[in-house]
Amino acid sequence: MFSTTQKIGILGGGQLGKMLCLAAAPWDFKTCILDTSADFPAGPVCAEFTPGDFNNYDDVLAFGADKDVLTIEIEHVNTKALHELKRQGKVIHPAPEALDIIKDKGLQKEFYRENGIPTAPFELFDNEKALLDAIETGKWNLPLVQKSRTAGYDGKGVAILRTKEDLQTKLLQGPCLAEQLAPVQTEIAVIAARNASGEVAVFPAVEMDFHPEANLVELLVCPARIPTLAAAEAESLAEQVIRAFDVCGLLAVEMFLCTDGQLWVNEVAPRPHNSGHHTIDSAVTSQYQQHLRAICNLPLGDTAQVQPALMLNLLGEDGHKGPVQYEGVAECLAVSGVHVHLYGKALTSPFRKMGHVTITAETLEAAFRKAEFVKKTLRVISR
Ligand SMILES: Nc1ncnc2c1ncn2[C@@H]1O[C@H](COP(=O)(O)OP(=O)(O)OP(=O)(O)O)[C@@H](O)[C@H]1O
Ligand SMILES: [Mg+2]
Repeated sequence: MFSTTQKIGILGGGQLGKMLCLAAAPWDFKTCILDTSADFPAGPVCAEFTPGDFNNYDDVLAFGADKDVLTIEIEHVNTKALHELKRQGKVIHPAPEALDIIKDKGLQKEFYRENGIPTAPFELFDNEKALLDAIETGKWNLPLVQKSRTAGYDGKGVAILRTKEDLQTKLLQGPCLAEQLAPVQTEIAVIAARNASGEVAVFPAVEMDFHPEANLVELLVCPARIPTLAAAEAESLAEQVIRAFDVCGLLAVEMFLCTDGQLWVNEVAPRPHNSGHHTIDSAVTSQYQQHLRAICNLPLGDTAQVQPALMLNLLGEDGHKGPVQYEGVAECLAVSGVHVHLYGKALTSPFRKMGHVTITAETLEAAFRKAEFVKKTLRVISR
């Protein structure tokens, strides 16, 4: 429905919430944010800010009471309150049922198995001791990937266990899963969108290159440098996954293109995603506008890429902690096709996501040349 008076409630006021609010502004949609501090990125750009904890049942319930549509910018929210709001007739996208599955990596993996979605072979364990037993008895062999079932993000709930020594130093505590280490050729992400009418649209596959130390995406390349056939398969797999979850809104599908050409789904996020930032500056429709279209059951926008693009996460520089200062922004703005996005976080710390830069050019090669300049020029340091 298109209505400039409807209130769109967003759980979470980080950078994704901020960019959602900015995308809503041209249509005069009323964006309302729930988070603990109005100083977070979305605070200054939303129409209405409600202080509260999106993990707290009462806070979410109260926040939802006068909203027409509810959505999220982070999946670790109180879904019990969302179930109650849904029971009361509120429109909630993504649906709390899907969120419950996605929040738990164990349930997520079982969902893939049940729905015939290719993923790394895995097993669930009650705790790390049960996993150690399985390794002891030879049921599982190293290397393997251990993941905490809940509350992981930015690689923090993931341990790649290669050696016996890793079992001493890297093992994660608590309920977990073990999965096969994928023979990764390229890590990619495909963002799909679906509206309540059942229309689905898929953005082109993007390639994700990781920062070796921080386990964060450092560089993103769109279109991904993979065979056309693999990209087409990845895009139709993303459509299969969003239809299986039956969610409205965006679903970012992270995948491994394996060395033998197989695609494995790694995990999904039912919201705008780091791998879609570049769409603001390089696609016909941004992922943020697409999310709004999808949750309001409006026609989905054209997902075509206008120009090749690179996206660099602006991470806080190692060794710097405190009030943030940016160096070299003006120099970068002098280069055509360099789009700087600062999230407005007051404090920087090593590897904290403080912003991103999208670089567009006629060719990827030209974009890479500009990226080299940005990388050595733009710095996020403390005062
Ligand atoms: N089975 C696997 N085989 C190979 N590499 C893996 C596997 N699982 C995870 N990884 C690596 O670890 C990274 C983080 O894993 P995953 O995406 O599951 O965790 P996350 O904490 O949710 O990450 P993020 O929040 O950054 O998306 C992956 O992007 C990939 O590089
Ligand atoms: Mg991930």
